[in-house]
Amino acid sequence: MEFPPDELMTRRLRLRRPRLEDAEAAFESYASDAEITRYLTWNAHTSPSQTREHFQQVIDAWDLRMGHRAWLMQRQADGALLGTIGCTIYFHRVEIGFALGSRFWGQGYMPEALTRVCEAAFDDERIFRVQALCDEENARSSRVMEKAGMKLEGRLRSYGYHPNRSDVPRDCLVYSLVRGD
Ligand SMILES: CC(C)(COP(=O)(O)OP(=O)(O)OC[C@H]1O[C@@H](n2cnc3c(N)ncnc32)[C@H](O)[C@@H]1OP(=O)(O)O)[C@@H](O)C(=O)NCCC(=O)NCCS
Repeated sequence: MEFPPDELMTRRLRLRRPRLEDAEAAFESYASDAEITRYLTWNAHTSPSQTREHFQQVIDAWDLRMGHRAWLMQRQADGALLGTIGCTIYFHRVEIGFALGSRFWGQGYMPEALTRVCEAAFDDERIFRVQALCDEENARSSRVMEKAGMKLEGRLRSYGYHPNRSDVPRDCLVYSLVRGD
């Protein structure tokens, strides 16, 4: 199977490409949530039109099959949009990023999504490595990666610019899963 596919299913979630008409619900559920951006490179959106603009870029990336391709995480039980997980492919290597609305934290949704994305990546024989990075203080994100079976490889100094945490770049931890782990 060619990675990344348009859609992936997990026990509780459907990961799917965003549509422009999702922008309002995504804005309400996670994109405007300032809690989630403390260790991220972006700021919480201030209007649904900003989310819509962002979704247009994501849709373009899917259509062109290049750049960062993000799925929306939709809960199967009620259709709620919980957050997003996405990937960028560099030849044999995939880098993952993710964020979940804070009211959905602590229910194991992101480890469930990340585990499925990793499995799908290794279903594509071209992919040998999946990696994800987080701010050294972002313990919740580190836990997600550990729960998905990723291994801590080291610290990248002054690597990530997280403007809601600091105005200078910060050390990040790098985690990975490789084919055969
Ligand atoms: C990191 C994140 C995706 C975790 O997703 P999640 O689905 O809540 O993950 P889990 O349910 O497995 O919880 C992970 C850890 O968060 C902590 N946690 C759980 N519920 C929490 C809550 N309500 N409030 C604060 N922390 C909580 C726990 O330490 C948990 O680990 P444990 O299960 O070993 O106790 C989510 O916190 C998030 O979106 N954070 C902001 C965005 C971000 O930092 N993204 C990563 C960028 S690299």
